Amino acid sequence: MVSTAPGAMTSEEIVALNRDHTFFSWSIQGQIDPIAIDRAEGVYLYTPEGRRILDFNSQLMSVNIGHGDRRVIAAITEQASKLQFVQPAFATEVRGRLGKKLAQILPGDLDKVFFTLGGAEAIENAIKLARHYTGRYKVLARYRAYHGATMGAMTLTGDPRRWANEPGLVGVVRYPDTHRWGEKEPRPVDEPPGSGGRDPVRGSAHDRGCVPRDDRGHERDPDPPDGYIEGVREICDRHGILMVADEVMAGFGRTGRWFAVDHWDTVPDLMAMAKGLTSSYLPLGGVAMRRHIADFFESKMFYGGLTYSSHAVSCAAALATLDVYEEDGLIRNAARLDGVMRQHHRRLEAKHPSVGAVRNLGLFGIIDLVRSRDPWTPMTPFNGSSDEMKAVGAALRDGGLYTMLANNSIHTNPPLCITEEQLAEGFEIIDRALDVADRVVTS
Ligand SMILES: Cc1ncc(COP(=O)(O)O)c(C=O)c1O
Repeated sequence: MVSTAPGAMTSEEIVALNRDHTFFSWSIQGQIDPIAIDRAEGVYLYTPEGRRILDFNSQLMSVNIGHGDRRVIAAITEQASKLQFVQPAFATEVRGRLGKKLAQILPGDLDKVFFTLGGAEAIENAIKLARHYTGRYKVLARYRAYHGATMGAMTLTGDPRRWANEPGLVGVVRYPDTHRWGEKEPRPVDEPPGSGGRDPVRGSAHDRGCVPRDDRGHERDPDPPDGYIEGVREICDRHGILMVADEVMAGFGRTGRWFAVDHWDTVPDLMAMAKGLTSSYLPLGGVAMRRHIADFFESKMFYGGLTYSSHAVSCAAALATLDVYEEDGLIRNAARLDGVMRQHHRRLEAKHPSVGAVRNLGLFGIIDLVRSRDPWTPMTPFNGSSDEMKAVGAALRDGGLYTMLANNSIHTNPPLCITEEQLAEGFEIIDRALDVADRVVTS
C-alpha cells in the first residue's frame, strides 16, 4: 500500500497508482511508461526525486508562456477566492474583459467568442455555428489534420486516430493536402458545403510532421504553398462557405505571430482556439466569430451550451496569460528565435545522415528522421513504430529532455519564454540522441 497523502510519494509509487486507477489517452494501457512530475518552472519539469527535464514540446504545444508563472497563478488565486463559478447564463467581469481583449488581438472583425473547455469543443461548436448560420451541413476537412477527440472533431480529423472511431459525423467531405501533389493552389471545390475547416499550420497529424515552410525549397514546396491560405479564403467567399481556422495548436504566438493566419493576413469566419489561450494553466478553449456571424445570432437561437462555458477562473487564467505574452514580449521572442532554431536544425541536418528534413516557423519546429534520404525512407513507416525511434526516444529521456515523437519525427516546440542558451541545451541533447538513429542509415 502506498500513502495517498500528497507530496509523499516516489516516482515509482505515483506511476503505479496512476496506472492502477486512471486511464491514459491514446495508449495501450499495458504498454505505458509515464514519467512522474512533481513541479515545473519556466522550461523545466522536475520529478519527485528532483531530476530536471527540459520541456521541449511545451507539453502538448500548449504551455506557451512556460511553467509556474506567478502572475497567472496570482490571477487564478485571486479569482478563485472571489468567485469560482456561475453558470454561463450569468455575466461576469472577467469573462467580459477576456472577450474584449481577444477581440483586440484577433485578426479582422473576429470579435466575439464562445468559450469552451478545450480545442475539440471549440471545433464542435464551430461546426454548429457554421451549420446554423449557413443552413448547410457539409464540412470540408483535409486528409491530414488533427482536430480533436470528441466525435465531430474526430470525424474531421484526417489521420489514423479517426479510424477506430468511425462512423462519425454525417457530411464530412475530405479534400487533398498540399505538398503531396505539389500544388500551388487549392483544388477547386465543386459543391458548396457548409464550412471548410483547416489548420493553418499542421501539428501532429502529418506523415512528414508539423510545420511546414522550408525556406530553401528543400525537396518539396513550402507547405502551405504561397497563396494557399488566401486561396482557400477566396474559394470560400466565392461559394458562400465559412472558413474555419483551427488555431488550437498554432495560435497564441507559437509561429511568431499571435495567430498563424496572421502570416497571410487572412481573416477566417470562425477560429477555434485553446491550449495557449491559458497556456494550459486551466482548461479553456473558444470559438471566435466574425461580426456578421455574431449579428446573425442576435435574433436566432444558438442550440449549444456547456456547463463550464466561460468559467470564471479559467477566464482569469487566460486574461493573465495574454498579459504575460505582451509584458514579456513572448511572441516577439518566438519570431526572433525562428532563425536560431533554423540554425540548430541545419547544423543537425548537416551532421547527421539520419536527419532527412527540418522545418520551423517561429518556435513550431520538427526534425524528420530517415533511413535514407534518397530514396526517401522514413525512419518509421507512417502510423507505425520502429525500434530506432524508440531508441531515440529513450536517449532523449535519458539525456533529460521531454518532447513529442510522432511517426518518424522529433518535435521541437519549447515554451516561448525559452532563452538561446536553453534552446542550445535542448538541441545538444537531440544531437547526442541522433547518433543512435545514424547507425541505421543506408544512404
Ligand atoms: C489543431 C488542433 N485542433 C484541436 C485539438 C483538440 O484540442 P483539445 O485536446 O484541447 O480538445 C488539438 C489538440 O492537440 C489540435 O492540435
